[in-house]
Amino acid sequence: MRITINQIKDMKQKGEKITMLTAYDYSTAKIIDGVGIPLILVGDSLGMVVLGYQSTIPVTMEEMLHHTKAVVRGTKQAMVISDLPFMTYHITVEDALRNAARFIQEGGAQAIKLEGGVNVAEKVSRIVDCGIPVMGHIGLTPQSIHQLGGFKVQAKTPEAASRLLEDARALEAAGAFAIVLETVPAPLATLITQRIGIPTIGIGAGTNCDGQVQVINDILGSFTDFVPKHAKQYAKLADIISNAVTEYHNEVKAGSFPTEKQSYSMDESVLAKLTK
Ligand code: KIV
Repeated sequence: MRITINQIKDMKQKGEKITMLTAYDYSTAKIIDGVGIPLILVGDSLGMVVLGYQSTIPVTMEEMLHHTKAVVRGTKQAMVISDLPFMTYHITVEDALRNAARFIQEGGAQAIKLEGGVNVAEKVSRIVDCGIPVMGHIGLTPQSIHQLGGFKVQAKTPEAASRLLEDARALEAAGAFAIVLETVPAPLATLITQRIGIPTIGIGAGTNCDGQVQVINDILGSFTDFVPKHAKQYAKLADIISNAVTEYHNEVKAGSFPTEKQSYSMDESVLAKLTK
């Protein structure tokens, strides 16, 4: 049985911290699932850390679906949540419903995530009405990066902080089961976490959110373009990969790879017939 939204909501009530991590492929998702992490996000960060785009804006539904299917195939217990890409839920409610449904029906995900608060509340409510669990995402919303003017800490003024609290409340009222708070001051994240009934999942939002999310490539140290302040590198995979690949390259050039151990033998009589 996969983790349900009720179990996630219960974790907040019990004060149990919730872990969420991104994944974009079968093998990584299988490892994360095996560890017992309850929430796996197929984030549109896919665009930056896997596909090499400058932002999440170019990511398409087809790209997200392709990677969602791979992650779903690698998991048994985690809830798989997929990000609705830029402009796939903004124009009409119908677009939002159709695209959310594709992730559940074609992709096999159990929930979707979208960015925005008060401005997307109606769409959240309509998607939830169709039986699709929705995770909200407020604060630094990377799909609005040009409007926000960069990857900056959000909601630092009293007006902006108050708007963020209103966004969180609007998402809860619309039926979202949890909300990502990205790059907001820790005390504000604490206050929002205390004032709403659904779990907050922080990324650069301090220590007191109900859960935490990170981009897997950031915590493994495999994305080398930049390291966000909120990320802790639990490994330096880029160095490990670079060393391994260098050794392979050198051994192929030197003729020391492959050896007999990596080779397949055949009956000599078969060969003999060919050489006659
Ligand atoms: O796309 C993503 O990976 C995200 C997380 C940073 C929350 O939205």
